[in-house]
Amino acid sequence: MIRPDELQYLNGFGNEFETEAKEGALPIGQFNPQKVAFGLYAEQFSTTAFTMARDKNRRTWFYRIRPSAAQSDYRPFPQGLMRSGPITEVPSPPNLLRWDPLPMPEEPTDFVSSLVTLAANGSVGVQGVGVHVYAANQSMQNRYFYNADGELLIVPQQGALLLHTESGILHIAPGEICVIPRGIKFRVDLPDGTARGYIAENYGAPMILPERGPVGSNGFANERDFQAPVAAYEDIDGDFELVCKFNGGMFVCDLDHSPLDVVAWVGTSYPYKYDLSRFNTMNTVSFDHPDPSIFTVLTSQTDTEGTANLDFVIFPPRWMVAENTFRPPWYHRNLMSEFMGLIEGVYDAKEHGFMPGGASLHNCMTPHGPEAVVFEQASNADLKPQRYEDTMAFMFESRFIFEPTEFALQSTTRQREYHACYSNLKNYFREQK
Ligand SMILES: [Fe+2]
Repeated sequence: MIRPDELQYLNGFGNEFETEAKEGALPIGQFNPQKVAFGLYAEQFSTTAFTMARDKNRRTWFYRIRPSAAQSDYRPFPQGLMRSGPITEVPSPPNLLRWDPLPMPEEPTDFVSSLVTLAANGSVGVQGVGVHVYAANQSMQNRYFYNADGELLIVPQQGALLLHTESGILHIAPGEICVIPRGIKFRVDLPDGTARGYIAENYGAPMILPERGPVGSNGFANERDFQAPVAAYEDIDGDFELVCKFNGGMFVCDLDHSPLDVVAWVGTSYPYKYDLSRFNTMNTVSFDHPDPSIFTVLTSQTDTEGTANLDFVIFPPRWMVAENTFRPPWYHRNLMSEFMGLIEGVYDAKEHGFMPGGASLHNCMTPHGPEAVVFEQASNADLKPQRYEDTMAFMFESRFIFEPTEFALQSTTRQREYHACYSNLKNYFREQK
């Protein structure tokens, strides 16, 4: 197993990188020469339309041992609990929804087989997001995966992942995230034996960094902290499976060689990782609780300005200093729909019931906020500067309503009494008027 400290990365966000695992493999001054060095094949990989504006255009040239077209026909692969938007198998209730963590499987289960969809929205192939969780206890063996339906934002909660991708190798541990572009082939090893986490499958435009506006030229997630892998390849023959999610379905084909055979690449579409502890958190230094959009790490924008297909928002350790302010998140009802997860610690609006590895879903106009006990405490707290330590919650926020799957609604992990945490919010008005 490769050690994390053996891996090299290319630093930056959205840059055109070039990397070669064998010196001289990368053509110079052109992309597809008549003959590529060392008998490699040139293959262009585009994750935006050819004609996308230059600053948003994402494409990479791969120089590989065999082109991707060297594969068999696909046949159906067990769908399991993988779903895509729209979810039509059950009606979507406007309820407050919350779940316990997914238990670890008892049977040997790899990353792909462990994928479970909790909710999805929009329409696969158009816009929207799939929200999945994984809980795996086996590395992928002779099996690779790619997702034609969207890029994958992977948020580990327990156990590291070693991602062998076409572009190279990434190691991510809880507290880090990675994004795998639509179409990139990869396999997942589990260095810690087991792994659990969350995935946003973004059917929309590739995620970018949000604008900083008046904050200026630094802050939030800084470009230099994003890391792409250097080229690494496998030149091995054998019996391999390539599993694919395409138009909501799961398929598999046979390969007689590893598809991770890219010896060199140059381009703007590649997997990348980010350490959430590098997020430069902005917040009030006077009063009131700002909108959580100040914690946006990455965003998938739509044609409607300011209305994201997907925002990835974190709630990291930070100082709370607001004066004369109810410091936890306020009670609210939003247009945007909010799926939340917890990587570690305690989230400040919910001290009970929202556990690391668990999840909550508050859809469009579904009211939520601090549970009663947190309201009581925060309304009476001594407002000294206070540091929130050892916590990392996150939110997948979307313009589209997240439709929970039948599994999510009927699972034993669903907390059917979640709404009760608001039931003892008192009528103080009657006492005080
Ligand atoms: Fe919320």
